[in-house]
Amino acid sequence: MAVKGRPYYGRGAARKTTSWTLVLSMLVMLSLLIVILLSLGILSIPSRKDSSKAHDLSHLAHNSLHSGGGDEESKDQWVEVISWEPRASVFHNFLSKEECEYLISIAQPHMEKSTVVDSDTGKSKDSRVRTSSGTFLARGRDKIIRNIEKKIADFTFLPVEHGEGLQVLHYEVGQKYEPHYDYFLDEFNTQNGGQRIATVLMYLSDVEEGGETVFPAAKGNISSVPWWNELSECGKGGLSVKPKMGDALLFWSMKPDATLDPSSLHGGCPVIKGNKWSSTKWIRVHEYKA
Ligand SMILES: *[C@@H]1O[C@H](CO)[C@@H](O)[C@H](O)[C@H]1NC(C)=O
Repeated sequence: MAVKGRPYYGRGAARKTTSWTLVLSMLVMLSLLIVILLSLGILSIPSRKDSSKAHDLSHLAHNSLHSGGGDEESKDQWVEVISWEPRASVFHNFLSKEECEYLISIAQPHMEKSTVVDSDTGKSKDSRVRTSSGTFLARGRDKIIRNIEKKIADFTFLPVEHGEGLQVLHYEVGQKYEPHYDYFLDEFNTQNGGQRIATVLMYLSDVEEGGETVFPAAKGNISSVPWWNELSECGKGGLSVKPKMGDALLFWSMKPDATLDPSSLHGGCPVIKGNKWSSTKWIRVHEYKA
């Protein structure tokens, strides 16, 4: 069959071959032109909408514009690493003024004298090391709380489901929380959700004097913080963060290798002048069944 078909390529084939060569070379030149245009960025390969979104940073600007509780009055937000041992950073203006006031208003009617966890029985007990009053707000309680919990998850990269309910605390003049660890050294308290891995401490009010969060075991030059001269005597006993309404302090009770970090030892300095309102989110290694 192939032999029989051969004569068809006889005389006319020569002309056919040249026109085919012409078409082919034109195709080659066209693709070369496309390659050149692509490399110059004049042409671009269309990509699917979702895949281009992954590298589009404009949504970050969009997010920061609309964060802060949806009110137009949103202040400058930035994150500052304050220490690597313990790992700690401050997210400035994390909560809006409205969110702070909301948390205080729903917590205020339910404030009770704070307790600490008894490491033998796992139960709450009265204590002199913690003289504040406080209350727990159920996780996902309402829209504003859910929004705050979503922001915490975004900030920490830890899922909302790993968080305990928010605790709101109130310290009056002279009230404090002696240095302690947020992680547990007993079996009982880690049954639900495992160990506490990180803590987000949000300041709901400014404090005129005192009330700093202090890390007495932090490594590094503690006096190099810009607010050193404004710190109380207690505050100068370690690396300190001055309470500022809306700011959130994130610190990790576990190192990246998942061992406990003793440098996360921290306390609340006595309030000297004014009032201190704060809210704490403890986050577990696993899902915390609320
Ligand atoms: C710590 O920081 C302060 C302020 O920046 C500086 O004056 C002091 O010399 C530093 N101390 C050490 C031991 O580096």
